[in-house]
Amino acid sequence: MVLIPKTKNLIIFVSLILAFNAATLCNGGITSRFVRKLAAATDMPLNSDVFRVPPGYNAPQQVHITQGDLEGEAMIISWVRMDEPGSSKVLYWIDGSNQKHSANGKITKYKYYNYTSGFIHHCTIRRLKHNTKYHYEVGIGHTVRSFWFMTPPEVGPDVPYTFGLIGDLGQSYDSNSTLTHYEFNPTKGQAVLFVGDLSYADTYPNHDNVRWDTWGRFVERSVAYQPWIWTVGNHELDFEPDIGETKPFKPFSNRYRTPYKASNSTSPFFYSIKRGPAHIIVLASYSAYGKYTPQFKWLEDELPKVNRTESPWLIVLMHAPWYNSYNYHYMEGETMRVMYEAHGFVKYKVDLVFAGHVHAYERTERISNIVYNVVNGICTPVNDSSAPIYITIGDGGNLEGLAKNMTEPQPKYSAFREASFGHATLDIKNRTHAYYAWHRNQDGYAVEADTLWIFNRYWNPVDESTSATA
Ligand SMILES: [Fe+2]
Repeated sequence: MVLIPKTKNLIIFVSLILAFNAATLCNGGITSRFVRKLAAATDMPLNSDVFRVPPGYNAPQQVHITQGDLEGEAMIISWVRMDEPGSSKVLYWIDGSNQKHSANGKITKYKYYNYTSGFIHHCTIRRLKHNTKYHYEVGIGHTVRSFWFMTPPEVGPDVPYTFGLIGDLGQSYDSNSTLTHYEFNPTKGQAVLFVGDLSYADTYPNHDNVRWDTWGRFVERSVAYQPWIWTVGNHELDFEPDIGETKPFKPFSNRYRTPYKASNSTSPFFYSIKRGPAHIIVLASYSAYGKYTPQFKWLEDELPKVNRTESPWLIVLMHAPWYNSYNYHYMEGETMRVMYEAHGFVKYKVDLVFAGHVHAYERTERISNIVYNVVNGICTPVNDSSAPIYITIGDGGNLEGLAKNMTEPQPKYSAFREASFGHATLDIKNRTHAYYAWHRNQDGYAVEADTLWIFNRYWNPVDESTSATA
């Protein structure tokens, strides 16, 4: 065909625009070429204001809350006192009410190499009303500290609810930027789904657990006011036989609680909760998951019980991603994928899987890789409308820095990837639609760098169009 000059010019013009576009279109989706500052990620020094100890002798510090039961009618309130055990009582009341309730918690304490923890308090308050603002107080006399939280709406299919998503946070200047961006995001997250790797204390000599304390004080400004749902990562293992520390997850287990018994789990590292319109399954990448293990049996029992009429959105959290096209932790999630993808996530139409571990951002298409057997050798991920979207959001900003090196060309299954620090929000509107947005720290608080309307797999299983912007 002979092109007339006008059309030819237009084609050249369009080609030039594509060439200069910030995003590079490869075999797969979009690899964002966003230009960011390349300063090394550094931890904030111990005397930083975000680590400040609250005033007063033995004042409660590191206050944090997480859901305390299956359906959001209980909250686990935790805090630490450094000098002496003190009272383990929580005083709580409904906003505007004079009727105060109290509950007593339990105290724990641990040693790690040459470190001795403060007195760690955990108190579960129960029979809370849904969709209600509660105030709570810990401490006595001059050191009373007051906070508040909102309980979630009653579990149901069409109650809107907004989750924040943060992973691999650490305590660097970038971590502080991520947390600030989450707090100031105009799409207000009501609870955080945290995908593992909290303090990075284990990167210090002898896993200096003082960095667990600083992290607790750093994130208090958010997690004392809204529950963070915990997933464990490799930086929670703290398994160090060289220094005699052979009990995995010791600091995390003493400091952070999960409501695992409420979902019939036998381990605090894998469990589920219902919150508003979502059924959230938390998996443990670093606990046994092979056939016949407690995690395998628990998940096998859990998935058929998910009632999509009551909880339409089925979300899974884990630390090591199954689909990740960065040259970091490549295929570390592969063995768990082989165990759970076909007979778990695809069969039961999981909507979304969030993981961390890789210090960057990536979103996949809906894909599966479940046809392979030893004889047929078919092992390429393919589009699958029953499969979840996999999102890697290990971009909280810890001291280990960004994962900038990507496998090339971008695999077809990868819809959008960018090596920037940030966080995301998942704004569930009703049983059919949720609005997802990823934010990078370099932008203003309201700027959304990657967005997608997500359609529920059970109620609205049509294909989403990739609406990424870079
Ligand atoms: Fe990790």
